[in-house]
Amino acid sequence: SSTSREWIRQPIIVVMGHVDHGKTTLLDKIRGTAVARKEPGEITQHVGASIVPASVLKKIAEPLRKYFPKLQIEIPGLLFIDTPGHELFANLRKRGGSVADMAILVVDVMEGFQPQTVEAINILKEKKVPFVVAANKIDRIEGWKPTPDAPFLETIRNQSQRTINILEEKIYRIAGELYNHGFEAERFDRVRDFRRTVAIIPISAKTGEGVSELLALMTGLVQQFMKKKLVTSSEPAKGVVLEVKEEPGLGTTIDVIIYEGVLKKNDLFIIAGKSKPVVTRVRALLMPRPLQDMRMHEGRFTQVEEVYAATGVKVSAPDLDDALAGSPFYVIPDETRLQDYLKMVSEEVSELRFKVESD
Ligand code: GTP
Ligand code: MG
Repeated sequence: SSTSREWIRQPIIVVMGHVDHGKTTLLDKIRGTAVARKEPGEITQHVGASIVPASVLKKIAEPLRKYFPKLQIEIPGLLFIDTPGHELFANLRKRGGSVADMAILVVDVMEGFQPQTVEAINILKEKKVPFVVAANKIDRIEGWKPTPDAPFLETIRNQSQRTINILEEKIYRIAGELYNHGFEAERFDRVRDFRRTVAIIPISAKTGEGVSELLALMTGLVQQFMKKKLVTSSEPAKGVVLEVKEEPGLGTTIDVIIYEGVLKKNDLFIIAGKSKPVVTRVRALLMPRPLQDMRMHEGRFTQVEEVYAATGVKVSAPDLDDALAGSPFYVIPDETRLQDYLKMVSEEVSELRFKVESD
């Protein structure tokens, strides 16, 4: 169309960490729901995406107003991608890492660094994704007296000196591990330069303590350091295929994270296939309800005519059986340019295949 429009999109935040360290619980806490209450040992099987709108961020950050009176929320929200910590799902972590603007590395404060913590750090390093560390499960520290949903800087004042010392020692250990991987790290309230030092935010995903600071800090960092990257316009969509899924009544569908532009019903698009590129048209765009996870249960989709970056969307289209998870997703604006796009995707895919096979 002739009218072009610009907007600031939601930053894409990937949540990574070792199995059971509390990624999904943290996202559930942020969403204010408890959909995924599960037993320890049950593992996250799928990548999900959920948007937390600015209105919710404002509400969560409200208790911090006295510490940061100037905190303004200028972004439309945050788009979170949950990833599984189980060692089998390295491919899902890599896909999450490849589309992320920023990351939260969740570390169980009692367990410290574990194999998939290290694996996640290596992905973030390779993709040059800035991150913060959420030192989770502080409620499990000996003698901890929880104040539900309180800022960390308040709840820490209610703890005994002994409990504070134990926490300090555990954070010191996490900082040491980060140092071994090439990062300077400090508790967030002691960081002077966030471009050089990784912030460690002590939280409890269970009690909600520290979660407001985590969100305020992510919002502040994104607004300070990557606002330019977040400007997008009404151009043809670009994205990444997170998952290829069979859906009852729809056949094979793809779950796509759109990080640029607009995607419309009937748009021509190209993705990588397992044997060759797939060129097809959007038959339907399916969205979960706001604040709901993209790991939707059947019947929870709403059909929409178009979606805007940033978002997760399920795309139904013919010929997706061969679709390759992890593939780039491009709308082809004009059929005369098909050859250019085929070439581009073929080049990206040989590299991608190599990565998929090396998992
Ligand atoms: P995977 O997706 O399988 O990698 O695990 P995860 O990182 O998503 O962990 P999940 O959120 O599923 O939590 C694992 C277990 O830890 C669950 O039993 C949670 O209830 C518990 N848990 C998570 N966060 C906290 C916390 O802050 N405090 C306490 N005490 N338990 C927590
Ligand atoms: Mg999980």
